[in-house]
Amino acid sequence: MTHSIQLIAPRGNTISITACGTGRTVILLHGFPLDSRMWQKQLTALEDRFHVLAIDMRGFGGSTLDEQVYSIADLASDVDIVRQHLASNEPIVLVGLSMGGYVALEYYRCFGKHLAGLVLANTKPQSDTDAAKLGRLKMADEALQQGTWAAVAAMLPRLLADNTLVNDATTTQFVELMMRSVRPATIWAAQHAMANRNDFTSSLKTIRVPTLVVTGQLDPISTPENNASWSQQISEARLHVIPGVGHLPPLESPDEFNTILIEFLNSVLG
Ligand code: MLT
Repeated sequence: MTHSIQLIAPRGNTISITACGTGRTVILLHGFPLDSRMWQKQLTALEDRFHVLAIDMRGFGGSTLDEQVYSIADLASDVDIVRQHLASNEPIVLVGLSMGGYVALEYYRCFGKHLAGLVLANTKPQSDTDAAKLGRLKMADEALQQGTWAAVAAMLPRLLADNTLVNDATTTQFVELMMRSVRPATIWAAQHAMANRNDFTSSLKTIRVPTLVVTGQLDPISTPENNASWSQQISEARLHVIPGVGHLPPLESPDEFNTILIEFLNSVLG
């Protein structure tokens, strides 16, 4: 059974968390433009063995957006506030998907001593090209001028594989519902934070915790080829490519995603 926690952080912002289970702590960080609801099937699968905290990042879900401009490092600090207040005293495992992975890598840089393991799902360590940055800033402005859905609708077929879009109406509608529920100012702020994020490529070799790298075979945003290349630089990384799915394996192929996640968590947290 999950419950919702509203944590008031030291600078007054509210961080909303969906929590369940007891034991060693696993923190889940969602992708863009989604929220902690994307982890529903992982919360259910993990709650028997682990204490699971799915965080809504600034402005998403139930968390407040108090400042228009923030950085990925600020989001990593929010994660550490959650860890300090809600996690057990032992090192945690951080699971970040895409934007959540950018935050997880930044968390490693700033607070790595608190990590027992890392799961980098459908993400990448590279920062944006100039063209990608421009695309983000365009979407950010469109969200303010024309509304969230006008700005983000074109992302839906990049998030889900064709097979999911055609044959899994429940997942497709759920992802669309999450995307539509994001406020324009939240889109703007997150796109600016991602456009300005650090490149982590040259620091991958400093990662010294067991790391599960996972992506979808058909993910156009975090391709298997790119994952195979950068994950080799992490000494304790193992790569898993989930067949037939796109950018959101936790939703598109929850059983396979959960199986490899639980296997990894058991090996790291015992
Ligand atoms: C995500 O799923 O979080 C986004 O695709 C990340 C991005 O826009 O780079």
